[in-house]
Amino acid sequence: MTIRVGEVIAVQGIRITLRIDDESNQETLFYKGEKFKGVSIREYLSIQRGFREIVCIVEGEYLDESRVEATDGKVRYVRKVEARPIGFFDVDGFKQGIKYMPMIHDPAILIQEERIASIFDRQGTGGDFRIGTMLKEEIAVNLPWKRLFNSHIGIFGNTGSGKSNTLAKLYTVLFEQKLDAIQGKSRFVLLDFNGEYTGQQLAPANTKMVYALSTRAPKEGEQPVARFPLEANEFWDLETLSLLFQATTNTQRPFLNRVIEGRRRYEANPGSLTAYTKKKFRDAFCAGQPKAATLDLMRSVARTVQNKALEDLLKGVNWHSQQNKFVSGNWWFDQDGTSYDAAIAPTVETVDAGNLDAFDQLVLRANLQLISDLINGYVQFDHIQPLLKRVESSLVSLRRVLTVGLGAPIDSLVTVISMRRCNNETKKVLPLLFAKHYYNTHRETVGTPPDKTMHLIIDEAHNILSQQSNRESESWKDYRLEQFEEIIKEGRKFGVFITVASQRPADISPTIVSQIHNFFIHRLVNERDLFLIDNTITTLDSLSRSLIPGLSQGCCVVTGTAFDLPMLLQVERLQKAKQPDSEDVDLEKLWG
Ligand SMILES: Nc1ncnc2c1ncn2[C@@H]1O[C@H](COP(=O)(O)OP(=O)(O)O)[C@@H](O)[C@H]1O
Ligand SMILES: [Mg+2]
Repeated sequence: MTIRVGEVIAVQGIRITLRIDDESNQETLFYKGEKFKGVSIREYLSIQRGFREIVCIVEGEYLDESRVEATDGKVRYVRKVEARPIGFFDVDGFKQGIKYMPMIHDPAILIQEERIASIFDRQGTGGDFRIGTMLKEEIAVNLPWKRLFNSHIGIFGNTGSGKSNTLAKLYTVLFEQKLDAIQGKSRFVLLDFNGEYTGQQLAPANTKMVYALSTRAPKEGEQPVARFPLEANEFWDLETLSLLFQATTNTQRPFLNRVIEGRRRYEANPGSLTAYTKKKFRDAFCAGQPKAATLDLMRSVARTVQNKALEDLLKGVNWHSQQNKFVSGNWWFDQDGTSYDAAIAPTVETVDAGNLDAFDQLVLRANLQLISDLINGYVQFDHIQPLLKRVESSLVSLRRVLTVGLGAPIDSLVTVISMRRCNNETKKVLPLLFAKHYYNTHRETVGTPPDKTMHLIIDEAHNILSQQSNRESESWKDYRLEQFEEIIKEGRKFGVFITVASQRPADISPTIVSQIHNFFIHRLVNERDLFLIDNTITTLDSLSRSLIPGLSQGCCVVTGTAFDLPMLLQVERLQKAKQPDSEDVDLEKLWG
């Protein structure tokens, strides 16, 4: 059954011009109980060429100036449309790509809605994965979920365009449909900068673990919030400490490594840290060439081990720059150690470093290491001191969001880590820590070929994947991006897939955007973003591209390697309880 609507009158390159029979400019037609879409822009029609049907998308429509005077005396204009072939139907169904071109006088016919759906939805029996309907045709279409979740996904669009809803819908539908199949084989980690997913979103409560981290001081009577547990060996690791304290320079990393090595060597020996502390005090005072800078470090040590007497004692110690030695009242501290033994050692003997938590231990060890390195002339104070300052200044925040040595993170299907209540500095380092943690843990246990997958989902990803940032040092920014670039480049081999949502795709590192395979592009108006989209998404056609600035809420262009053709999808809005918690204030309610 066919409804003829016109015929081919010109073919130029891949542009086809059709003359449309004039009665067919209705939006919807019914014919023998079947629904057809009329001929208008972005609709599909087919051109018959032997036993094949060439499927074309309508890209333009205009009236020809040549008038036709009909027998009834009325004047009519010739309606023409321009179309572009996108594929063809043969006996096996739809195939994408231009292989056959129509010729003049070939008849154009309308395509039944269900056949249009089959163009976009050709999974056969496996698929029933719906997150919305095609915008124009209003046909519910199955997404090729196997190919989709086996890839890196990008969701872009201005604020309020519906990115979070789309992201949540994708995974909500996935868990609704495949929960049993997925359990135990895959793991989903969502880095949630705005705390939008800490409620009933995505997956049932018994499969979801939420870490709502906060760097704020807990208020009186407030429930302590969950902290993210790191195991001791993960904390005392060069990578971890380097990223937590942004140790990127050539001198700071070896320094941290000495700290870690020193700990590892004496780990088994209780009391060794106390003994080590005492020894370093003696070294600092009685060195062949004492160093002025060690005095401040010793004061810091005294503070860290909370030894008030020692703090007070050190207040009276001064550096004598002519003599190059320490002095306190009448005591001059020489290499022989007699002054030290008499004036300082008795107080130092009261030091107890046995009950420090990991963070204080780190401060203590770093100070002692620097004392030792300075005396031995290994390092320049100025190279290491900024690192020490960062360690000391970020301790308060980190202690509120991390625990060390109190177990590992709970293993659940979905882990949501909310950083809504974290300060900016912590927001810059924590995502990297979590990404590394889950990436490394996964990589260590995965088989070849991968027998399980890990999906890292980052909403508001510009927070961490942005190239523009003037609040941090260049070297740290490079390091941060390199880590994510590695995950996105190498991850596939290990079954690690990333989903990023962002309002500013142009700010995200191009290396990362170019590795994304599938895109859900919501409304974007900024020229730079559109330029990036043009240049990086090879599967996007110019018609779909031109629609992006005008898309309505929840509507997006879907394109990428999982899809043969770009399509315009109106994503369904999630039910209230499952919607991401938007940050918007309802002023009407607030002021009403
Ligand atoms: N698919 C949709 N259909 C209808 N409205 C939507 C849809 N997606 C989002 N919205 C509306 O837009 C608002 C913003 O959506 P959200 O997903 O938070 O956007 P974004 O993450 O891009 O800032 C939502 O509160 C909702 O009211
Ligand atoms: Mg959002």
